[in-house]
Amino acid sequence: SDLPFPFQRRSIHLKRRHFLSLGVATLAAPVIISRRTVAAEPGAPLPIPDVMEVGPGAGNILSAIKGRAELIPGVESDTLGYGQDYLGPLLRFQRGRTASIDVENRTDDPITAHWHGMHVPGYLDGGPQLAFGPGKTWSPELPVDHPAATLFYHSHVHGRTAEQVYRGLAGMIIIDDPEIDDPLPRDYGVNDFPLIVQDRSFDRSGRLTYDLGMMGRMQGFHGDDVLVNGAIRPKLTVPAGLVRLRLLNASNARIYDFNFTDGRQFHQVASDGGLLPSPAAMVNLRLAPAERAEIIVDFSDQSAVRLVSRNVGSGGMMGGGNNTATLDVMSFDVGDASTSGPVQLPGFLPATVSDLGEPVRTREFILNISSGNMISSMLNNLIGQDRQTMGINGEPYDMSRIDQQVQLGETELWRINADMMTHPFHVHGVSFQVVTMGGRAVNPAAIGWKDVVHVEGPTEILIRFDKPATIDTPFMYHCHILEHEDAGMMGQFTVG
Ligand code: C2O
Ligand code: CU
Ligand code: CU
Repeated sequence: SDLPFPFQRRSIHLKRRHFLSLGVATLAAPVIISRRTVAAEPGAPLPIPDVMEVGPGAGNILSAIKGRAELIPGVESDTLGYGQDYLGPLLRFQRGRTASIDVENRTDDPITAHWHGMHVPGYLDGGPQLAFGPGKTWSPELPVDHPAATLFYHSHVHGRTAEQVYRGLAGMIIIDDPEIDDPLPRDYGVNDFPLIVQDRSFDRSGRLTYDLGMMGRMQGFHGDDVLVNGAIRPKLTVPAGLVRLRLLNASNARIYDFNFTDGRQFHQVASDGGLLPSPAAMVNLRLAPAERAEIIVDFSDQSAVRLVSRNVGSGGMMGGGNNTATLDVMSFDVGDASTSGPVQLPGFLPATVSDLGEPVRTREFILNISSGNMISSMLNNLIGQDRQTMGINGEPYDMSRIDQQVQLGETELWRINADMMTHPFHVHGVSFQVVTMGGRAVNPAAIGWKDVVHVEGPTEILIRFDKPATIDTPFMYHCHILEHEDAGMMGQFTVG
């Protein structure tokens, strides 16, 4: 099809006066105002990532490259991407078919390609042990054994994940299941859209910057502008009917609480690992880093609307920044009526949430901001030293230490809690069910298959481990605030 190639140079004239006037204002202001919101023209069309259908055999090449992307019209930023300047193509895998990919590294640093949410053995998972250097190629053959879902891929080099993902080494995966009759809109780029949401900051000249400072080291990076598929506050024209939006929070640390400006109701139909048993009506949807949600929005009333997010803090001792602000995400215009797709939302969905049985073991995990004491950790962060102050169960990540050994095929209960902040906890190689959140029992079926759970108090998840991982390429569990992960809030486990 002739979908627009993402991040093509757009012929939008540069509104230089914004930069000049803001530049002067910034110089005259106190030094604490080191960042500003870029007054870029909103409303450029949403870039729709190219699709790369990946099956067996050679020729599916994903080249990590150094890019120059015009994230702000008229200004090029140094970026990274898989096969393009920023982000990567939409990878489409089919259940029951092997997906063979050649991941090439044409950047200057080691990278990986981690298939976040996929159920593959450790040696195919793309975790930190599988980092490979410039000029090298990694060619995994992925057995696709996963229900239809919206997944995530990104680089996962220990200590560099945050900056590499920030610069663009990330993308979306859609898994199709030919055995299942998907009753929802599924015409890609027509009534089914990927929305990769990321917050970013730009310097006064409009170039992408990644500056952490003390708050960023403690709470993770929070940017001033929201990008969707690499465009700032873009506009999407949708058909007048039911539209499926696949939301991926690919931000380093920001939690979104999405809602539409007219307060309209929408339905969540899938979470991280696949479809829910039935559509869930809501007016706002919270997504922590790396969480996904598929939603169905009814645009048949033809009114234009904006998608915004309430600013959510990650709580705790440091506060959450400017909690009252609303972030602009993107806008929707409505065109003609749909020519394809269902006109009514089905009452039930072909969900796959199954009974995992009784846990044979319980493990406890405490996510620590500081493995020593809080004051020394804050001082270390203040002077920019010792990034290894975060950990799990009192220990920062150590690539040469196996933290847990799990038996293949067994179901376990994992109890997770945190000190001082909330954290999105992620486990590799599995989908799990949430049984307790914030100390309260929840209905696992209604939440669906998850691989990230936002830990806001005592949290319990039920996991069955169906894929093996050896000591050479163990699976990870970690906080998906990427700055926390890089600083050591990660552990690793074998399954065998
Ligand atoms: Cu999104 Cu360890 O991964
Ligand atoms: Cu992962
Ligand atoms: Cu964290």
